[in-house]
Amino acid sequence: MASIDYTERIPNNVGLGEDRRLQRALEEWQPKFIAWWQDVGPHGFQATEVYLRTAVSVDPQGWAQFGYVRMPEYRWGIFLAEPEPARVIPFGDHKGQPVWQDVPGEYRGVLRRLIVTQGDTEPASVEQQRHLGRTCPSLYDLRNLFQVNVEEGRHLWAMVYLLDAYFGRDGREESEALLERRSGDPDKPRILGAFNEKTPDWISYLMFTYFTDRDGKYQLASLAESGFDPLARTCRFMLTEEAHHMFVGETGVGRVVQRTCELMRDGRTDDVRKHGAIDLPTLQKYLNFHYSVSLDLFGSEISTNAANFYAMSLKGRFEETKKNDDHRLQHATYPVTQLDGETLRVREHPALPSLNERLRDDYIADCQRGLDRWNRIIREHGIDFELTLAHRAFHRKIGTFADVRVSPEGRLLTEAEWGVKKREWLPSPEDEAYVQSLMQPVTERGQFANWIAPPARGVNGQPVDFEYVRLA
Ligand SMILES: [Fe+2]
Ligand SMILES: [Fe+2]
Repeated sequence: MASIDYTERIPNNVGLGEDRRLQRALEEWQPKFIAWWQDVGPHGFQATEVYLRTAVSVDPQGWAQFGYVRMPEYRWGIFLAEPEPARVIPFGDHKGQPVWQDVPGEYRGVLRRLIVTQGDTEPASVEQQRHLGRTCPSLYDLRNLFQVNVEEGRHLWAMVYLLDAYFGRDGREESEALLERRSGDPDKPRILGAFNEKTPDWISYLMFTYFTDRDGKYQLASLAESGFDPLARTCRFMLTEEAHHMFVGETGVGRVVQRTCELMRDGRTDDVRKHGAIDLPTLQKYLNFHYSVSLDLFGSEISTNAANFYAMSLKGRFEETKKNDDHRLQHATYPVTQLDGETLRVREHPALPSLNERLRDDYIADCQRGLDRWNRIIREHGIDFELTLAHRAFHRKIGTFADVRVSPEGRLLTEAEWGVKKREWLPSPEDEAYVQSLMQPVTERGQFANWIAPPARGVNGQPVDFEYVRLA
């Protein structure tokens, strides 16, 4: 029942063949997508065979198949998680009603905006990562990069399906626009800030997959609760793929930490730069940067939009159905950190407009779990250093902290103090140049760049020295 029809030009489990209009719309969009992929997708490697996984079912057990694929021939398609029988809306004003199979007329504009905003991040990250292939630290890492890239491409397909299937002509126009905006382009930028930042090196990339893809997890998880059932089912399947992106980040940063600690211990030195590795203070700066720009993605602490999305039963909380409250939140409050004159203070606020902050809190707790694992590696090497998450007010551009300067410990600073100290907290041009100098490709089987340890195991039971990408 969950199997995917691969005889179709567009693999899908939504019965696309029975909807001629939609099929035609998507078949018209398909060559534009491929043109976009060729134009701003991974630079080079388009004729290279890569050991990739492709979704072949939405069954949580055994949903993917592995094999060599040339990226432009990847079977991008439309896969929704199986419908939950008799599902009812779990939250908001429509709580308890049967879920919607069509877009409620009064929420059309809002829902379209939510889908477009999510959809825009997917091609953006592919654009941000397009030059990384040239400087891969190993074939294993190169393969993982391309796996993430093709899946972000598929996530774009997922959102375009919703737009084309449920939003008529407006939806089709939005689908085109998703291929026209470009990450970092001043004239037609991507919608959200973090998706216009550069990902110029592999340290940035690993931090991006840890912190920014994790924002994706939390956004998708709250949309997976939506009363609009096709959106909920789409997001539920996207989360299956998203887990791999965060795995790349968590294990990738962990392997950098591991390598650095080995060199520190064996060379009895803190100065691992002379061995061509990333010192822990530099890693902390990259962490600070990617964490803070990812915190911005959750939006303002107090947000009428967030309240409306929830009241309209369009976007829920993380793990909405596991929570024990009235799922309407009209009378509830939530503690929110805010700027109060010269101090940062936690105050109870009405819960509905605080939903962005609540999702950010869930995210922060999840981020900390990876740091705990990285810090364990450091401790196991007998090294006295701890990676930390900066205060939520540090280096923010969105929300109540956008206009103030705050240290990673949460101390308010003058502009002058910030100017002096920021090089200790964020990557300086010298740090960036140093990291860039390490970005030399390593493409022999089983070999790894000196700044990163090999992974504990290979992909899909294959050995670490497997030919994950056939470069010859
Ligand atoms: Fe994605
Ligand atoms: Fe992702």
